[in-house]
Amino acid sequence: MITSLAFLIASVLFISGIKLLASPKTARRGNLVAGLGMLLALLAVLPLLHNAHGGSVSLWKWFLLITGILLGLVIGAAGAYKVKMTAMPQMVALFNGAGGGAAALVAAIEFAHVTRASSLTFVMAMLCAALIGAVSMSGSVIAFLKLEGRFDQPVTYPAQKLLNAGLLLLCLLLAVVMAAGAHSVMLMVLFLLFALTLGVLMVLPIGGADMPVVISLLNSFTGLAVAADGFAINNVAMVIAGTLVGSSGTILTLAMCRAMNRPVSNVLFSAFGKVDASAAHANSATGSVKPVQADEAALLLGMAARVVIVPGYGLAVAQAQHQVRQLADELAKKGVDVSFAIHPVAGRMPGHMNVLLAEADVPYDQLIEMEEINPEMERVDVCLVIGANDVVNPAAHEDKSSPIYGMPIIEAEKAGTVIVMKRSMGKGFAGIENALFLRDNCRMLFGDAKASLQELVTLVKAG
Ligand code: TAP
Repeated sequence: MITSLAFLIASVLFISGIKLLASPKTARRGNLVAGLGMLLALLAVLPLLHNAHGGSVSLWKWFLLITGILLGLVIGAAGAYKVKMTAMPQMVALFNGAGGGAAALVAAIEFAHVTRASSLTFVMAMLCAALIGAVSMSGSVIAFLKLEGRFDQPVTYPAQKLLNAGLLLLCLLLAVVMAAGAHSVMLMVLFLLFALTLGVLMVLPIGGADMPVVISLLNSFTGLAVAADGFAINNVAMVIAGTLVGSSGTILTLAMCRAMNRPVSNVLFSAFGKVDASAAHANSATGSVKPVQADEAALLLGMAARVVIVPGYGLAVAQAQHQVRQLADELAKKGVDVSFAIHPVAGRMPGHMNVLLAEADVPYDQLIEMEEINPEMERVDVCLVIGANDVVNPAAHEDKSSPIYGMPIIEAEKAGTVIVMKRSMGKGFAGIENALFLRDNCRMLFGDAKASLQELVTLVKAG
């Protein structure tokens, strides 16, 4: 009774946590609330151990259990404290892989308890959890390695999809054989090995830069595997938590794809980012690069009535969020109306720019969504683009042959003057040229974003 009540409270905490995560203002609290739910769910399982095994649990098992929980707590907390914001997708990939692996292990171990009297629902739930969990685990490890830059290119080879389909078919065949009554350990090991291989082969051909989308998809897989485990071992909290992760992961995957204007199938099967020497994308852009020095840029900013700052991945790389806040504050002191335009997929993870700017305590009311800022852009005096590239590339609505054609962008080019801060003419995530940089109203302020911003702050202050 107490355990059921604890599971119910934990589930309410999970749901409230997810609800609070929907806004940057309440996201921190959401994380805490959901974490509290997880702690409660963990504690609530302990009394169940006695019931499940019809007696007392040996001291050795308690030791293993408590050591496992403590190790998990220490590794999780240390990882989260130490990881850099730009390496967050890698950490999520690893944690997600661990979740998938745990779900597959629970399923495989429970499978050992299957008898002829076990219901088909129980056996099917176990097999689903083992298959999906193993795919998610090995897929997440490859996603982690790709994000770490261990693969130069997406790995593609002939008959790739056929091989993956064949592997999936083999897994399903083995599942049918096991569900029909062949409860051998060897079959389960083989099943897990095929599933792990499938996870690896599924992620290998996907471009490294598409990994955030893949991780979100694998995250939803892990959720489903946990929910299936919950069905099999009759744990309501696992069913609810798994379903929440599964559905939110799916919604996030679809939202990211929509923001890039690419269907999920394109992310999974197009090897986006693979360099094709035979079809180098023609650069039809005309114009010249017009560099600007920091003093002239500071003058332009200081004289403007309205400035819109477009942050991108480079701002996160440079860790210049505090400097950009200082610049915004200095300009505001001079009476300039400053706001930040946020593109939904700027950076490398969902909400990357919101999190980055929140770290520097940029007020939420200064952040404006892309849809709201675009109609205003013609009335903006200076648009300051900091470390952003693809999300301001006009090719997205001007060049039908561009790989990003159709992706919604922040229409920086419509502002009176555009100042772009980046280190070189280097490309962004999509690996394509950006004609904005050659436009008549565009000036390039070359240099590391942090150093350039520091200089701008000093100059604006002095001006
Ligand atoms: P990008 O197009 O990747 O451009 C970032 C730019 O930052 C680069 O061109 C780079 O130019 C510059 N940069 C790097 N380090 C810098 C530094 N220290 N100082 C100054 N500039 C620096 O970034 P974006 O505009 O934010 O676009 C994000 C891209 O990621 C989109 O194509 C999006 O579809 C993709 N993506 C996003 C997500 C999510 S969920 N956010 C998920 C998957 C894919 P230099 O080398 O010349 O400095």
